[in-house]
Amino acid sequence: MTTNLKLTQNDPASLDVDAVVVGVLPGPSLAPGAEAVDTALGGRLVEALKAVGATGKAGEVHKLPTLGALPAPVVVAAGLGADPTAETLRRAAGAAVRALAGKGTAALALPAADADAAAAVATGALLGNYAFGRYRTGEQPETVGELLVAAPAETQARVAEEAVVAEAVTLVRDLVNTPPSHLSPEDLADVADRVAKATGLDVEILDEKALVDGGYGGIAGVGQGSVNPPRLVRLSYTHPEADKNVVFVGKGITFDTGGISIKPAEGMDWMKSDMGGAGAVLGALQAIATLKPKVNVIGYLTIAENMPSGTAQRPSDVITIYGGKTVEVLNTDAEGRLVMADALARSAEDSPHLLVDVATLTGAALVALGVRTTGVMANDDEVREKVVAAAESVGEQSWGMPLPDELRKGLDSPVADIANISGDRWGGMLTAGIFLKEFVPDGVRWAHLDIAGPAFNKGEPYGYTPKGGTGAATRTLVRLAREVADGNL
Ligand code: BES
Ligand code: MN
Ligand code: ZN
Repeated sequence: MTTNLKLTQNDPASLDVDAVVVGVLPGPSLAPGAEAVDTALGGRLVEALKAVGATGKAGEVHKLPTLGALPAPVVVAAGLGADPTAETLRRAAGAAVRALAGKGTAALALPAADADAAAAVATGALLGNYAFGRYRTGEQPETVGELLVAAPAETQARVAEEAVVAEAVTLVRDLVNTPPSHLSPEDLADVADRVAKATGLDVEILDEKALVDGGYGGIAGVGQGSVNPPRLVRLSYTHPEADKNVVFVGKGITFDTGGISIKPAEGMDWMKSDMGGAGAVLGALQAIATLKPKVNVIGYLTIAENMPSGTAQRPSDVITIYGGKTVEVLNTDAEGRLVMADALARSAEDSPHLLVDVATLTGAALVALGVRTTGVMANDDEVREKVVAAAESVGEQSWGMPLPDELRKGLDSPVADIANISGDRWGGMLTAGIFLKEFVPDGVRWAHLDIAGPAFNKGEPYGYTPKGGTGAATRTLVRLAREVADGNL
């Protein structure tokens, strides 16, 4: 494991660490895993928990001094609620670790008897231990130096896999948190190139000239207003015995001002997260290259900076998407669907068994689902349901949404094959999905994830989710590749 997390089979109460984390169930009562700590405290842990007001509700974190009863000076009690799920464990581990920021070592003695539970505790601990200090010149934000998870030795392989995925999520968070002045389209493509070289992925990078020459009018059009030219990155992982190709497409707008249809100043800083979809695809490919599932996976990153300038596209311009369909650009702020269209159309050349795109696509997704839930749309009901289930299984909140045919006519253009915004006001998330669907190759099963809300946490940290970049959808994509490899999708 390349991370600072290890398993331990030692008695958690005997560990020479700075804190031990235990689980609390409603009552309060102690969750499995806490027994040794309770014994070391003379069987008085519940009494102490009651004294500090612990109820065992999910999300609660209480710290108790051990006053020499065990080597660790502090016990952290993490509420699990009734019937804890894998996600409850992830969140409890994340919140507990975050509460311990600055400690050298912490042991987690949460209920982790089987591989699923141990993996959940490890994921929560690793993701909750995130901090982004790259642009601080003084003190770095604090994290826990070393994490020990109390779990049986036979869970080691699963936990190691989870650590690979957590590392990918960390990469995505770092990319989203990186200011756009330090992450131009070229910079993002360079990071993808580095990841590819480090993990053995094949990589193809199209620069602005190759994009124009190749007929990628969406990416070229959105990117033409910026001095930082656009890129299309294609990453590919090949398994020697695989016979199925999964294609992921991610929106990589390194900053979205709206272009000539410029956004209001208020909250525009949020748009540094507009490459979260491309980040998720890159992170997923990094993890997949290491985990080596029996499936081929191709990832496209559609990268541009959406700026207003003398060279920017104008509302009413007509562009030609890869493959030949024309789009009337009525609003330059509906740019995500333009860059995505090129890669969706290009994916026809990869004969996808399954095509999944991820994009911070619409403000309407926030209106419909709030900031924590991904909207999942698809051209196939079973695919949509399985994508929602895959997301749920890794703890990424998502909800299936329809793509009503009647919304298509709002996108009719008097001059081109389709317009990029609708005359109809309602259902903006679905309209964007309907637009993308036009560019999905015939006969390909496709799902679209609108992560406008979940990609970036403007609020306070919760569970294992920090403020800022979250890495949303990365774990879902890895799960989906594995589902296809296992013949489930
Ligand atoms: N990147 C935005 C969507 C977005 C909004 C992401 C808020 C995260 C938080 C996207 O490019 C956009 O501007 N969409 C427009 C589309 C509209 C012009 C049809 C929107 O949602 O307002
Ligand atoms: Mn926009
Ligand atoms: Zn955008």
